[in-house]
Amino acid sequence: MSSKVQTPKFGPLSGMKVVFSAIEIAGPFSAQMFAEWGAEVIWIEHSAYADTIRVQPNYPELSRRNLHALSLNVFSEEGREVFLKLIEDADVFIEASKGPAFAKRGITDELLWEKNPKLVVGHLSGFGQYGTEEYTHLAAYNTIAQAFSGYLMQNGDVDQPMPAFPYTADYMAGFAVTSSVLAAVYNAQKTGQGESIDIAMYEVMLRVGQYYMMDYLNGGEMCPRMTKGKDPLYCGCGLYKCSDGYIVFEIVGGAQVKAMFTELGIEHLLGTEEVPEGTQLIARSMPVAEPLEDKLDSFFLKKTVEEALALLASHKVAGAKVLDVHELQSNPQYLARESFTEWTSQNGKKVKGPNVMPKFKNNPGKIWRAKPSYGKDTKVILEDLGYSQEEIDGLKENKIVNIG
Ligand code: COA
Repeated sequence: MSSKVQTPKFGPLSGMKVVFSAIEIAGPFSAQMFAEWGAEVIWIEHSAYADTIRVQPNYPELSRRNLHALSLNVFSEEGREVFLKLIEDADVFIEASKGPAFAKRGITDELLWEKNPKLVVGHLSGFGQYGTEEYTHLAAYNTIAQAFSGYLMQNGDVDQPMPAFPYTADYMAGFAVTSSVLAAVYNAQKTGQGESIDIAMYEVMLRVGQYYMMDYLNGGEMCPRMTKGKDPLYCGCGLYKCSDGYIVFEIVGGAQVKAMFTELGIEHLLGTEEVPEGTQLIARSMPVAEPLEDKLDSFFLKKTVEEALALLASHKVAGAKVLDVHELQSNPQYLARESFTEWTSQNGKKVKGPNVMPKFKNNPGKIWRAKPSYGKDTKVILEDLGYSQEEIDGLKENKIVNIG
């Protein structure tokens, strides 16, 4: 029987079926990648209430495009039956909840593998599927993962820690879900054995905040936070003010150090005890660091952003203007690569937002469908699973599903 759920064939993941149950940003961000790279992705929302993201006026149009919407009470007896049928031919199931929520209600990995031995299950949670009673069942959002991982304490300014925004930990967690699930799918295809992946948001952020921790953990000191956007370890790296805006640059590499010292008129320091031959980075511990930073500040303050960037580029020093969001839309690189695009929402409104990312040369991703309304695809999904109209009406009446 041909499927009523229609997903066009495109992208590297064409033919893959993904089912997910997650709200807000993190889990759905992963699902969205699958959907934009060609997989058929079914978004399960509770039949009693919709994903809380739907209250946002614009973001869901981006984050829920290309999906099929199923409204289902997974943990009711009949709903569980629907769910288990749904995953029978799925490649991937992703869920985000407060620890082992599915297992707690009897939907264990083992039960899922009984139905589908090749299934890859991605469990996303704040604190993991196991650990201590104190933490495992706790709710978590972006700031919680940042705080618990030691990442938040490293960010902000020297005077005050500050979470990285907007919702950085959610997006990082989404990337971790996608990459680990794809690794497991690769293995499942080779061996026929499914996988269960325990993705704890705090552990994702522990890895994101790992750089300076290695010094501390191995007998060194913990690096302080930034001061006014400048790298706490190296001079000539970070945020600088020009006469008409902010730029960032990173003086990294022997040739770059030499070029910038020459620009500042202090090339005589090169090859001395202060700045030995071959110096590639100016550590803040070097005596030259503080006067050099003052020179850089006043040098760039006298230049326009355009002048500064031209000078940095001429010396192969990596640099960029700190762009306002309104500047992105007319930036020539954005235009040339179509980094933004437009599509039409389900109710006919033009929506503008980031394009599919990244760009696959041979099998490009695409946007083929607007965000579906709550429960929009419930009926066709149930029909595909073999439910009759009468049975569907019964499920609706018992509030096991919602038909949009
Ligand atoms: N059918 C039946 N029950 C469902 C369901 C469905 N389709 N979807 C969710 N539920 C249940 C959940 O199991 C939960 O039950 P419980 O509280 O008894 O365990 C309840 O409905 C509420 O669901 P949930 O979506 O977890 O909402 P919440 O407000 O309690 O918690 C989060 C939301 C995001 C904090 C929590 O899910 C969480 O910590 N998730 C992991 C990390 C994460 O993804 N964070 C968000 C990043 S943007």
